[in-house]
Amino acid sequence: MGGFHCPLGAMSPGNEGCIRCGLCSAASKADYAKAADILRAYIREHAPRPGRAEKIAVCGKGGVGKSTVTAVLARAFADLGYKVLVLDTDESNPTLARQLGLPSRKKPLRNMDSRFEQTESLPWIRQDMTFADIPPEYVSAAGNLMLVTAGKIEDPFAGCACALGALAQLLMLNLQLSEGEVVLADVEAGVESFGRGTERGADSVIAVTEPSLDSLEVAEKIKYMAEGLGISRFRVIVNKAPDEETAEFVTDMLTEKDIRYLGWLPLAKDVSLHSLKGTPLSKTDGTYRQLEDMLKLFLDENEMDYPL
Ligand SMILES: Nc1ncnc2c1ncn2[C@@H]1O[C@H](COP(=O)(O)OP(=O)(O)OP(=O)(O)O)[C@@H](O)[C@H]1O
Ligand code: SF4
Ligand SMILES: [Mg+2]
Repeated sequence: MGGFHCPLGAMSPGNEGCIRCGLCSAASKADYAKAADILRAYIREHAPRPGRAEKIAVCGKGGVGKSTVTAVLARAFADLGYKVLVLDTDESNPTLARQLGLPSRKKPLRNMDSRFEQTESLPWIRQDMTFADIPPEYVSAAGNLMLVTAGKIEDPFAGCACALGALAQLLMLNLQLSEGEVVLADVEAGVESFGRGTERGADSVIAVTEPSLDSLEVAEKIKYMAEGLGISRFRVIVNKAPDEETAEFVTDMLTEKDIRYLGWLPLAKDVSLHSLKGTPLSKTDGTYRQLEDMLKLFLDENEMDYPL
């Protein structure tokens, strides 16, 4: 994959997936703008069909609670009878498996250990692949919950995370899901992944935000970026609200900006304690239950049945 990262996931210009937009060979600002227009038009035209939320990217500023929310939503999806694949696209955070209550991480899609040359290709990531095509050595699983990790940067000079984003994008794009199957991607912090188009395979974006202007502005930018990738279903979860008054202030701001939110979660001691101990949040915990309700609202809004 080298240093080349096509927003459409093509391995190189002219290869499978390339629409010859010219972005990767643009030599001037004008060429770049023209190529970006061609890309955006293509992406909009080929946007996921509306109506079903099958591939959800959980995004937001650093530390706002993306992994916490992803882990609980994934477990709540599984409780409703869905078969859930969690895709960990974050190159640094190592705790998602523990938050999900799954056995320790299996083989990542890409080994970023600088002591080893990555020579392995992943031919099983191909058009119309299904969950069953993912080799078991890449999957941590329990019941109907599965976790696949793109890779982690373990050493200095191990390389940049773009290749990990590209693999995650390819997997998201190519997975063909059946009724009752969903993918939840825990995306790296900020908006860089949108610049690379990592979320392009997603049909929905859930942005987590704290009650801070910074993280709200990042959420707003994510909405803009998601729309640019052809993803129209965008929802916000407000996390770590110190009290109801603050939560209302934030949700009023979201309403003013015409941004739909699923609800808000308080700053909760239990959540940070579980995270510190590396244990999954209890299903009787208030935060877990609130997220369960938010998930049902999300599914009801999209008129999706619960498999169980
Ligand atoms: N509602 C909450 N109440 C208290 N602590 C919380 C809450 N939500 C998340 N946290 C804590 O905030 C920290 C960051 O959470 P988390 O790792 O889920 O964020 P993140 O957005 O995934 O971070 P990163 O950008 O590093 O991936 C963790 O210690 C977590 O336990
Ligand atoms: S950026 Fe455009 S031209 Fe380059 S490989 Fe991707 S689709 Fe092809
Ligand atoms: Mg995280």
